[in-house]
Amino acid sequence: MQIARSKDELRAALAPLRGAGKVVLVPTMGALHEGHATLLRQARQLAGDGTVVASVFLNPVQFNDAHDLAAYPRTPEDDVETCRRNGVDVLFMPTPDEMYCADRTITLEETHLSTVLCGASRPGHFAGVCLVVDKLFNLVQPTDAIFGKKDYQQLAILRRMVRDLDIPVTLHGAEIVRGEDGLALSSRNARLTPEFRAAAPSIHRFLTEARADYAQGAPAAEVAAAVRRKLEAIPGVRVDYAELVDAETLHELADEKRLALLAVAAWFGDVRLIDNIELSRA
Ligand code: PAF
Repeated sequence: MQIARSKDELRAALAPLRGAGKVVLVPTMGALHEGHATLLRQARQLAGDGTVVASVFLNPVQFNDAHDLAAYPRTPEDDVETCRRNGVDVLFMPTPDEMYCADRTITLEETHLSTVLCGASRPGHFAGVCLVVDKLFNLVQPTDAIFGKKDYQQLAILRRMVRDLDIPVTLHGAEIVRGEDGLALSSRNARLTPEFRAAAPSIHRFLTEARADYAQGAPAAEVAAAVRRKLEAIPGVRVDYAELVDAETLHELADEKRLALLAVAAWFGDVRLIDNIELSRA
């Protein structure tokens, strides 16, 4: 595995590998866990004899909360090992100064899907995600890229970006990886207090119960409200949103024959967790 810390090193590492099959990119912000390792293994499988590129870059531009950025876990040595063990050929680990010009003036904002769910409570977040992912696409020029469905809204917005800007890359959504207790794996889980860590698996339990209720015909608004109520009954938990929306538009579900998405974000103490589940009528 080659490690590139600058854009020039990345280009030099990739030049001899281009044209020999797929180039599959897995962008990450580091603090890699089993969920990321699963994405890397899927990338290896998809690439076959081609090339797997991973990026580890804690993108400051997508954090609207300085405290969240400061508290975000950083495990660069472990990340290198995780990439090495899971079939990565080239690992890109730039610094913010390498990634961004200090006087940059271009922004990249999606204006419809980004206005709801996480976009409503994290202003500028998805513009920062689009900017860094577009830069990574330009630098790596992957044929394919893999993103986890835990960040369902992020994936929907990136699909829109690729479509609207004609970026020649195929995006793949990977299923959420959960612990045995059902909690979606996240770098943020490490920051939960023992009490909140014990309570957090109930998010998935409530979502699963909601899926069953929805399949049996419960009204969409009631299904979402029940999840909110159950989460709010946990001491110290504050719900940011619990919404049932159209899985593609992320806005109101106008047609119940379409796939729905039940998405939640909730503060467990000072840690904001997100999760989601796809729903359909039985
Ligand atoms: O999902 C993430 O970890 C980040 O938002 C991404 C896609 C790596 C962009 O910084």
